Formats: sequence, structure tokens, C-alpha cells
Amino acid sequence: MEITRSVSLQPLNSFGVPAVAAHFAAISNRAELEEALAFAKAERLPIQVLGGGSNVLFIRDYPGLVLHMENHGVEFLQTMPGQMQRVRAGAGENWHDFVSMCSRKGLYGLENLALIPGTVGAAPMQNIGAYGAEIADCLIELSVYDRKKNSWLTMDKSQCEFSYRDSLFKQSGRDRFIIFDVTLELSTAWYPNLSYAALANALVNQEPTAEQVIEAVCSIRRSKLPDPGVLGNAGSFFKNPIISEDKYASLLEQLPGLPSYQTGESGLTKIPAAWLLDKLGWKGRTRGAAKVHDAHALVLVNTGDASGEDILLLAQAMSSSVLESFGIALEPEVQIL
Ligand code: EPU
Repeated sequence: MEITRSVSLQPLNSFGVPAVAAHFAAISNRAELEEALAFAKAERLPIQVLGGGSNVLFIRDYPGLVLHMENHGVEFLQTMPGQMQRVRAGAGENWHDFVSMCSRKGLYGLENLALIPGTVGAAPMQNIGAYGAEIADCLIELSVYDRKKNSWLTMDKSQCEFSYRDSLFKQSGRDRFIIFDVTLELSTAWYPNLSYAALANALVNQEPTAEQVIEAVCSIRRSKLPDPGVLGNAGSFFKNPIISEDKYASLLEQLPGLPSYQTGESGLTKIPAAWLLDKLGWKGRTRGAAKVHDAHALVLVNTGDASGEDILLLAQAMSSSVLESFGIALEPEVQIL
């Protein structure tokens, strides 16, 4: 394994902003990860793991060692009772390709998560979710490297502290655990999850095949979310705020028609940040080459040569206006580095 100096991260982050890693290593197997971590320890370098770079915003050069997870491989494991089968995938696998492969093999449950950019290893970090599904629904366990104990570990789902766009790996476990592979349990029987109204409405056939659901999800995403290969972006920049039912009732007087979603916790409700931002007229507004996407107010795009700071300043202006107007503090979904 080679450790390279001064590597540009511009092609490795989906915003396409410039940043340079002081040290960089591509990781293909367990031994390489151990070797790279030993180097970082010896040189007293901080480390940053990078998957598809689709949920990070670099606002400056990275002074430490970037580990780019490139370990591949998908293993179809044992069949479980109740028409379930386990699948294990390396952190470096492309998420959408993995979703498509499982569906082609007759293993179902990931269709609603089609076309989410990024890698398998990054998916549990922020518990990726879309159209009424999230990875925590079918995740069984993860192989991780524990930097505190210097050992490999298998963590089951209950240890991962999953919640809405969040996990242990984004919080207190951030510098401690490195996700190496992910095991999911999928169903060999097909049941579509059409709980999300926009998805059900997009399907003319109400008994769709898995392939038709994947196609519908891809087409909704393409209509609202820009392709990072064409226009740099990281999907939703902020999380949807979770507020009390009381706060929602008072906001509804100020904002008739404000949608809300169930959270599973009583007394709390989730509201769409995009709706609030749209109400405040943010769609299409710019700061330098950073812009709020014309089709979706929660998505920031790099129209050309934006820096990470341009994007951050635009995001800060957006969240300040939501705080002033509605008393709600938006929390970034994207990791700012
Ligand atoms: N809306 C507006 N204006 C806009 C965009 C949306 O008023 O500019 C309204 C919509 O009409 C709808 C509501 O806001 O009533 C929610 O919009 P949408 O269905 O597009 O979903 P979202 O809440 O903005 C979330 C996820 C997305 C995921 C979609 C679909 C978060 C932060 N974002 O977006 O995830 O694809 O639901 O499930 O939870 C991501 O995490 O990067 C991401 C793209």
C-alpha cells in the first residue's frame, strides 16, 4: 500500500470543491487499513475516512491522512428462516450498484434506496434513507476496526445507535470505528414499500415489480435532485427538523399547509426543511458559484468553481433566515470538514 502526499480531493467529493489531503491512502483490504493506521499513529496524523465523498463538504485542505475505502466484494451468505437471506458487502462497493445487484438476484428490501450516491461503507454512517425506508431497517451487523482497542470487531445493529440520518459513527464513535463491511438481511419474497405518497403516486401499476419500484425511485430522484456527475451537490444539505407537536401547532398558524411526518416518537413531529426554505424564497439564490438548486430548496449546488466556503456561507445564510423567521435551528446533514 502506498501513502501519497498532497493529493487533490476535488474529484473525490461530490460537491467538486477544491481541497488537498496532506497524505492519502487507498484501502483495499484489512492489512492495508492496519498499515495506514499505524502510519498515522507514528506520524501523529488525524485521519479522515472517505467513501464516495457524497455527504462531505471540505472547507479547507485536510492536514492529516485520508483513507479512501476501496475494498470490494459482495458475498451471499446463509438463508435465514422466513424467506430471508444475508448479504455482506465491502465498504468500497458503490451503493446503487449494490442495490441493483440484490434486486436482480431476487433479494428485496433496498429498492426505495436506489440511486443514493456514495458507497456501502458510508451508508450506515448517516443511516441513509429515502421514500419511507432506511438502511437500519435491514442492517444486521458491521465489521469495523476499533482504533481504541486496536482490533477488529463485529457490531450488531443495536450497538450502532441508529436514528434519523444519524448513528454512533457520526457521533461519539466517529474517530474510533472504521466501517469495513456491512451485512444486511433481505427478503426473497417481494413486497413493495409504497408508504411514501410521492412514490405510490408515481406508480401507475399499484402492484409493481421490484424493478418498476427502482425505476420510479430513480425517476423521482432525477426530477428533483441534480446528478452530482453533472452539477456538484451532496443531496439534502440539512436534516428535516424534529419539533414538538406544540411547536408544530403554533407554526401551522403562521404557515398554513406546512406538511408533517410521523417520527415514531409520541409528541414529536418532523417537518420538511425544504418547504420552509422554499417559503422564504431560497430556490435559485446564489453566493458566488454556490447556488440553491432551482428544483429543490434543500439542495446546494456548485455551478462551477465554488469553494467549500462559498457553499458553507450560503448554507449559513439559509439557516439564519429559518431561525429568524420560524425559530427553528436547521442542522446540517452533510459533514463539514
Ligand atoms: N418541498 C418544497 N420545496 C422544495 C422541495 C420540497 O416545498 O423546494 C416540499 C415537498 O413538496 C414536500 C416536502 O417539501 O412536501 C418534502 O420534500 P421531498 O419529498 O423532496 O423530501 P425531503 O424531505 O426534502 C427527504 C430526504 C431525502 C430523500 C427524500 C425522499 C432528508 C434531509 N432528506 O427529503 O434524502 O431523498 O426525503 O425520501 O431527510 C439526502 O439525505 O441527501 C436526501 C436527498
